[in-house]
Amino acid sequence: MCGIVGYIGNEQAAPILLGGLEKLEYRGYDSAGVAVLDGDKITMVKTKGRLKVLADKIHDGADLHGTIGIGHTRWATHGAPSDINSHPHLSRNGKIALVHNGIIENYMQIKALLEGEGYTFVSDTDTEVVSHLIDYYYNGNMIDAIIKAIHRIEGSYALGIISVDHPGELFAVRKSSPLIVGIGNGENYIASDIPAILSRTRDVYFLEDNEIVWLKGDKIKILDTDKHEIKKDVFHVDWDVSAAEKGGYEHFMIKEIMEQPKAIEDTVCPRIQGGEIVLDDIKLTAKQIKALSKIYIIGCGSAYHVGVVGKYVMEKLTRIPVEVELASEFRYRDPIIGKDDLVIIISQSGETADTLAALREAKKRGARILSVVNVVGSSIARESDDVLYTWAGPEISVATTKAYSTQLQAMYLIAMHIGINNGKIDEEQKEHLLAEIQTLPAKVRKIFEDIAPLQNYASKKYGSKDIFFLGRGLDYCVALEGSLKLKEISYIHSEAYAAGELKHGPISLIEDGSLVVALATQEDLFEKILSNIKEVKARGAKVFAIAQEGNTAIEKEADFVVYIPKTENIFTPSLTVVPLQLFSYYVAVNKGCDVDKPRNLAKSVTVE
Ligand code: AGP
Repeated sequence: MCGIVGYIGNEQAAPILLGGLEKLEYRGYDSAGVAVLDGDKITMVKTKGRLKVLADKIHDGADLHGTIGIGHTRWATHGAPSDINSHPHLSRNGKIALVHNGIIENYMQIKALLEGEGYTFVSDTDTEVVSHLIDYYYNGNMIDAIIKAIHRIEGSYALGIISVDHPGELFAVRKSSPLIVGIGNGENYIASDIPAILSRTRDVYFLEDNEIVWLKGDKIKILDTDKHEIKKDVFHVDWDVSAAEKGGYEHFMIKEIMEQPKAIEDTVCPRIQGGEIVLDDIKLTAKQIKALSKIYIIGCGSAYHVGVVGKYVMEKLTRIPVEVELASEFRYRDPIIGKDDLVIIISQSGETADTLAALREAKKRGARILSVVNVVGSSIARESDDVLYTWAGPEISVATTKAYSTQLQAMYLIAMHIGINNGKIDEEQKEHLLAEIQTLPAKVRKIFEDIAPLQNYASKKYGSKDIFFLGRGLDYCVALEGSLKLKEISYIHSEAYAAGELKHGPISLIEDGSLVVALATQEDLFEKILSNIKEVKARGAKVFAIAQEGNTAIEKEADFVVYIPKTENIFTPSLTVVPLQLFSYYVAVNKGCDVDKPRNLAKSVTVE
């Protein structure tokens, strides 16, 4: 999730751009840059690293002259963090500068088209194709060129554009990636998010998809793609800066929970093209897949929990044996692993010490490394043979939610890719699975439509001393994650058990009033989990159950039920985890915990 700021007015633009970008730093980024229109030329400075590196380089903006400009903080998706991959990007004649937030899904095709027209590229980014494409269509009318370009590109974008052929003007357009227009007095702004301009104006327009902005210092025009002017209501922001950084949410965690549908969409959709799975430039060949003898999935914490789901899913779809391991254990057990083994490393940060060490142990023994990482260019990504990036955007809250959910999607995609290539998934099943996985974002959104009962239930249960999570099969995998989420942000003791294990000891812990969260979404195991619910109820437990819509039999036994929309069994973890994230969040909020920064925890454990 990159950050965009644009300014047009009577003051020097560069210091204002830097100030705006500073207010977007919370979004996470790896590089930054600005471009300012100074008469008949564009001055651009961009650097890898923190915003301070850029600010120092241009003496807080004093070195750049001009009253129109665009700025950008980059969260890398295509192309590792570097000076050249930073934004803005220039058209080949240097006349157009552009910043972008989002993902251009068909950038390879456009790049090939433009190279055929003699364009050359200097960066590894998807964004650069847009600056050249606008140049390709430009014939003196910038709005026309923008419209033609956005009709060609597919994906998500918020664009800020300046051009030496349009002094005194600034352009912008959005599709799927947020963008606002700040309304000043003799000056105007564009920004990805409200905090960037809150110190300059509290009056904004929120842009909708395919709306094009044409700014002058004293004029704002918003057009549709037929160039009809759109009248919009002014939104007056009465939030404080802190609330604004969280998009109006109280915490980053709830904001990131709510971002999951888009994060899942961004991670999955670009990888399903023409009814086929296209796993970016993963070099795992069909021959290598057919030779696979075993798959290992390794991670820590929630990443490990993704691997536990991955084992079930991968074995189901590929019929290849899968071992899932804690990185901190794997790295010290002198594992028996070799060249016909595939090791899938999962890590949001790509810097977790134990996970990186496990990667190196596996690589030393000749295994092929495919990593699932959220931070582009991170250590784990760089040391892997293949990387399948999750496109969750920066995850600020220590407790992972959207990264976990997008890692699940990566498991599904990899399992389907392998299963299709080793013949275990036939054409009919492939079509069904590909169609169903694309319904998950909408199904997660459906869960958000009725969270008040869950919020109310959490307000009654936050005083619990112990909370047990039970499940069978994939529900057991998700129970592990639900228990971790709860304990790490609410500090309530919690354990997750395979429900079949109750009789082998844990049931002795159940007493009158114990709270048990029973996951009952696995239809083939429903009667079994129902028996377990009866067992704990008989010993005085209160049961909060999660089941698939329509399965009302659960209400006979459970005290409180949350339903998830129906989906293919292997995809249920993507839905079941959402009420558990919300339950944990509201319990922690009721307890007054520091939800985004829980005690003793760091977002990335870069030491043992
Ligand atoms: C999850 O909520 C925790 N923050 C933690 O378990 C985390 O998943 C683990 O430290 C792994 O981090 P990584 O994904 O960045 O490697």
